[in-house]
Amino acid sequence: MDALEAIFTRRSTRRLADTLPPEETIHTIVEAGRTAPTGHNSQTTHFFVITNREVLTELAELLKTEFAKMEPEPDMYISLKNAISAAKNGSIVFHYNAPVLIVAANRKGYGNAMADSACALENMMIAANALDLGTCWCNQLHWLTDNKAVRTYMEKLGLSEDETITGSIILGYGADGSPVRTERKQTGNPVTWVR
Ligand SMILES: Cc1cc2nc3c(=O)[nH]c(=O)nc-3n(C[C@H](O)[C@H](O)[C@H](O)COP(=O)(O)O)c2cc1C
Repeated sequence: MDALEAIFTRRSTRRLADTLPPEETIHTIVEAGRTAPTGHNSQTTHFFVITNREVLTELAELLKTEFAKMEPEPDMYISLKNAISAAKNGSIVFHYNAPVLIVAANRKGYGNAMADSACALENMMIAANALDLGTCWCNQLHWLTDNKAVRTYMEKLGLSEDETITGSIILGYGADGSPVRTERKQTGNPVTWVR
């Protein structure tokens, strides 16, 4: 698959098989992220590639517990409000039981922290699609980056005190054998072309 096809056919795949992709394939996808551009070539994005089942389960449980302690506020981002409500009624989903979770972190207070991380995660999602693997951005860890219990857990995995969690993606084979590639209607992202 060429680069354009991989970009245009990428969709979020949330139903993934349990099977762990070969380490070499995961490595290629991670390298696709590591080679993404960074502001001033800072290369400060820190990637956690989590394939340990126990850690994946503990993280999902931790997020459920911590979101359940929060109260939705009127000016909160809608998805965050939904996550809190879902945690309270036990229906919250974090990583969809994916076999791989890739978490991105970057320097706290660095102006390009989110942009650099997003470039990297998008590179990984496109590379994964080219290799017939599915991905989906999962944002809950980012929302709880300042939560004490989440920080304590992530610091045990190697997060530095001066890093903030910018996002994460799940990765794996599609539950039906291939990643989701159904066409999506383009309803937004307007373009102003100035000729
Ligand atoms: C910044 C960002 C955050 C997202 N957070 C989540 C999330 O927490 N859970 C989820 O299931 N999908 C999440 N998504 C996936 C979007 O829902 C998805 O990209 C969008 O609906 C468009 O569908 P497509 O990816 O299939 O084209 C996120 C995507 C982005 C870019």
